[in-house]
Amino acid sequence: MLRYMTAGESHGKELIAILDGMVAGVAVDVKFINADLRLRQAGYGRGGRMKIESDRAEILSGVYRGRTIGSPIAIRIGNKDKTYSGMEPVHVPRPGHADLAGLMKYGLDDCRFILERASARETAARVAAGALCKLFLKHAGVDIASHTVEIGGVAVERVPRSVKDIRRLCGRSSLRCVDRGAGRRMIAAIDGARERGDTVGGVFEVVVTGVPPGLGSHTQWDRRLDGRLARAIMSIQAVKGVEIGLGFESTRLPGSKVHDAILPAGGRSSNNAGGMEGGISNGEDIVLRGAMKPISTLIEPLASVNLNTGKAAVAHVERSDICAVPAAGVVAEAAVAFVLAACVIDKFGGDHVDETLRNLKSYLRDVRKRTGFKV
Ligand SMILES: Cc1cc2nc3c(=O)[nH]c(=O)nc-3n(C[C@H](O)[C@H](O)[C@H](O)COP(=O)(O)O)c2cc1C
Repeated sequence: MLRYMTAGESHGKELIAILDGMVAGVAVDVKFINADLRLRQAGYGRGGRMKIESDRAEILSGVYRGRTIGSPIAIRIGNKDKTYSGMEPVHVPRPGHADLAGLMKYGLDDCRFILERASARETAARVAAGALCKLFLKHAGVDIASHTVEIGGVAVERVPRSVKDIRRLCGRSSLRCVDRGAGRRMIAAIDGARERGDTVGGVFEVVVTGVPPGLGSHTQWDRRLDGRLARAIMSIQAVKGVEIGLGFESTRLPGSKVHDAILPAGGRSSNNAGGMEGGISNGEDIVLRGAMKPISTLIEPLASVNLNTGKAAVAHVERSDICAVPAAGVVAEAAVAFVLAACVIDKFGGDHVDETLRNLKSYLRDVRKRTGFKV
């Protein structure tokens, strides 16, 4: 079973990710992990922290001479920002954050003990663990990309479906947006929000190619691939909605316009299902979207209460992003990579990546023989 955990606070000493259950023999390139960490930090609309930190992964265990050895992989990412031990306590909880609910739950009296861990700084550790999963998936020919499809109500008009095109077009956009015109209007929306002391949210899309059919299962709720992916995406800070394939749009169309006809040589007439049916991958690309709410910390803060005095007060202000949708897309890639890597290991097993790949190849051969489809 593949699993991972993270530890660390936003202004703690460091972040740690532990990935347990990864097979041996996976080629590990730290530069690849660091490239994903850089992408998570980038994006027009991010706050000042990005100028202080330049995240680097340090692998502490589980990798020897550039290959995984099957034991738990610990990754460390140092924090360069100031540590919270010397920071002022926070008694005015910020709306839209874990501050108030966390204080009530944990019986604490300083919001900092909550906000430090609730902060999306934690996603750096998730991205590092996810990058390792991507490296494993690479062996199996699975490739993942994300891009920004909407910010502050400005949406792209057309989206490429090839991971290579997404990567190429995103590479020249500070918002990881494939549509130049829409990208410019999104930047204007972010600038407008900044001038008003406000923030904006948006939507990112994740596309995965090379997914074998048969990941996940219809037989039990917690084995469904759609459910596992949705949970992973919803667990990203500030994500408030997930769509798979056509998602909410499918509710407005008749069934004849939604479902994807099966072609005689394999493949589908369309991919509105987003690469899965009945909670099982069907061999088409996985396409899903996540909706991110506007950043909660406002330069013009909302009303709150000072919990020491019980009196009305304006919310505490931490240095903050205006918009982090492109970064959330990168975190979502990591979340998807983890789920898919776990599903590949569930289905094909093996303790060395060669064994997993042998099982995968023999399964695909069998599927081809039984269906005549090109998988
Ligand atoms: C990549 C990323 C960066 C974020 N940056 C900020 C930020 O700078 N300021 C902020 O208030 N919230 C930020 N958030 C969102 C908060 O972490 C989140 O809204 C908060 O922890 C409450 O969780 P919830 O929105 O899921 O309820 C960010 C989220 C992500 C994914």
